[in-house]
Amino acid sequence: MENNNTNAAKAKKVKESRTTMTEMVMPNDTNPLGNLMGGNLMRWMDIVASICAAKHSESYVVTVSVDHVSFKRPIHVGDVVTLNANITRAFNSSMEIYVEVFASDIKGGNPRKCNHAYLTFVALSDDHKPIPVPEVIPLTTEQEKLYEGAARRRELRLILGQRIPAKDAELLKEYLLSQ
Ligand SMILES: CC(C)(COP(=O)(O)OP(=O)(O)OC[C@H]1O[C@@H](n2cnc3c(N)ncnc32)[C@H](O)[C@@H]1OP(=O)(O)O)[C@@H](O)C(=O)NCCC(=O)NCCS
Repeated sequence: MENNNTNAAKAKKVKESRTTMTEMVMPNDTNPLGNLMGGNLMRWMDIVASICAAKHSESYVVTVSVDHVSFKRPIHVGDVVTLNANITRAFNSSMEIYVEVFASDIKGGNPRKCNHAYLTFVALSDDHKPIPVPEVIPLTTEQEKLYEGAARRRELRLILGQRIPAKDAELLKEYLLSQ
């Protein structure tokens, strides 16, 4: 990893990089049933999360992992989709971003949460090498909960990505045994 201690030194609050994106579902975004295509929603989630990660790290970022995404409720053509992205925690060069997706009709009717996902980004230098990122300062109870869970979710990702052996997942093991 390239050295960039100035960047890593300044811890930042979650709200400093909070990002919201609003889209209207147009016919071109839909499947043959007139609902938003899953792939289009995933694209918007990737965009809003990457802006949030780039704001936090003040650098270029790339998506390195997307956790399980499930589609609970259909989003219809003409609906307004709001995507909120918040950073949960930063590690060395990587950052976990939590994205929540809400939809309603154009008049604000039928408001609903449709899904959420955790995406991980890596900050890159101008010559495309991973660089250290600022730490996250969680302030609210919800932010602290997300911050704490992020280390466990990271362990699971690193196992699934074959970066660490399952036997080394101490936090995950401790958590599962406590349930
Ligand atoms: C992201 C990338 C630069 C990482 O390169 P690398 O050689 O693995 O670098 P490192 O080993 O230093 O890992 C960098 C970080 O990525 C994290 N990482 C790597 N694979 C991961 C995975 N599957 N899930 C979560 N984090 C992962 C590492 O844990 C490390 O995080 P840390 O610095 O906070 O500890 C490289 O994998 C890449 O360029 N990937 C393609 C990204 C891309 O193009 N995305 C768009 C898809 S089209």
